[in-house]
Amino acid sequence: MGNNRINSPALRAKVCDAQQAAELIEDGMGLGCGGFTPSGAPKAVSRALAQRAADAHAKGDPFAVRLFTGASTSPDLDGELARNDAISLRVPYNGDASLRDKINAGKTAYVDTHLSKVAPWARSGFFGDIDVAIVEATSIREDGGIVPTLSIGNNQAWLDLAKTVIVEVNAYHNPAIEGMHDIVTSGIAPNGQFDMPIRKVADRIGEPVLRVNPDKVRAVVLTDEPDLNAKFRDIDEGAKMIAGHLMEFFLHETRVGRLPSPLPPLQSGVGNVANAVMAAFGDGPFDNLVAYTEVIQDGMLAMLRSGKMLSVSGAAFAVSADEAVRVNADMEFLRERIVLRPQDVSNNPEVIRRLGCIAMNTMIEADIYGNVNSTRVMGSRVQNGIGGSGDFARAAHLSIFMAPSVAKGGSISAIVPMVSHVDHINQDVQVMVTEQGLADLRGLSARQRARAVIQNCAHPAYRPMLLGYLERAESSRYGGDTPHLLNEALGWHHRFLETGTMQPG
Ligand code: COA
Repeated sequence: MGNNRINSPALRAKVCDAQQAAELIEDGMGLGCGGFTPSGAPKAVSRALAQRAADAHAKGDPFAVRLFTGASTSPDLDGELARNDAISLRVPYNGDASLRDKINAGKTAYVDTHLSKVAPWARSGFFGDIDVAIVEATSIREDGGIVPTLSIGNNQAWLDLAKTVIVEVNAYHNPAIEGMHDIVTSGIAPNGQFDMPIRKVADRIGEPVLRVNPDKVRAVVLTDEPDLNAKFRDIDEGAKMIAGHLMEFFLHETRVGRLPSPLPPLQSGVGNVANAVMAAFGDGPFDNLVAYTEVIQDGMLAMLRSGKMLSVSGAAFAVSADEAVRVNADMEFLRERIVLRPQDVSNNPEVIRRLGCIAMNTMIEADIYGNVNSTRVMGSRVQNGIGGSGDFARAAHLSIFMAPSVAKGGSISAIVPMVSHVDHINQDVQVMVTEQGLADLRGLSARQRARAVIQNCAHPAYRPMLLGYLERAESSRYGGDTPHLLNEALGWHHRFLETGTMQPG
């Protein structure tokens, strides 16, 4: 299985089983792993490592690793290790429910970090030693070049920094993927930071393989299995309405000349609403679209196939199980249209600013002035993490945040007087959208923004309460540019925690 994917004799000699590879990892080590969504996450070695942790704990020995990846990974890595209490520190993002529980219980330390900054900061030594790298490969070339799978993440940094390298060669992936990747590193600021001369979405500035010193490779493990992709939820009515408001906005903006046609490169966040927006673009009036984005979901791939979208630059595929099968079948076609980049390049603010991207991300809540919380439920419990949303929101030409106007069956308003945690300051939010409507916040003062957000985005069940809050804050003796009543500002969250609803009794 897969031995013919290893064309370097030196690395073919390192083939061993996953248990032997996991033996190279000791308690307390720093692990730099592939994985950006389940794409590219190690599989067999992750499971063997979780078993190693379970065995150590059964004997009363400590066993936990510091885990660094691209972004979220798979149930085999984050999930299995978390359930076995084997992660002491997690950087930079998590989407796994078991690990979320450990983080929120204070059992796993979590550094929730802008994805573009992980590799440069790791190279600068901000995170301590990276002892072992585990990367997934489609194949290994004769010259030792490693052809990645459906993401690259921070793998070149892990391969450069780690003392020991483990490669999983996964025969599931179509070898025709070779040539889709474009690998270059952004170096270390301030002196070694390279320019990123990407002027068009499809520009290639690096080489198609990861490089590693073969002497560091201690284990090559053969696998043949698809990524454990999560199931997408069906697109609901609310998400369709959000997408509809956005389409109207883009049409209007192109008609009045504030946005060019074709539209600038699109970035689309993760989740149900992001998928609905891509589906709306698929049926919409815009042609010759391009995307400079982070995750490549089903909707974008459908547009590449239909010809609506011409090219995509991204960090990782984040696709449904059915779509993963189509990706494997269509690899030659997709390789001509997709550039997969390391995340310090896919999310590079220099490039995002130069290309004038339109960033579209999803939020947990926003306040009336346009500050956005993407990560913390009720100010305290992390949901996932900031991911790449900050990389894009700050650098984009136009930054859009979206969410349903209410959560948990209406007991929570996504528009609140003051956000309980801030990820994106109001200066990084130009447009806000819920199923209720769209608030165009460009050029508005804080008090004007508040009225636009309340009138256009808040749910009718909460609109009068928000307006009442704003009016009382404006007429309070403190007044101010962003008037607040500090004794009430977080009162809605407090009421929810006490009574189960933000609505007064
Ligand atoms: N208060 C409390 N809970 C809320 C909430 C709010 N205002 N808004 C949403 N939630 C809950 C939902 O009820 C759901 O809970 P559940 O898991 O118990 O069902 C959970 O948060 C996730 O919400 P969901 O509607 O499923 O969201 P989603 O899949 O559209 O994701 C984010 C929304 C914000 C969590 C997600 O986009 C994210 O992690 N963003 C940050 C990273 C990012 O933007 N990455 C893209 C950059 S390229």
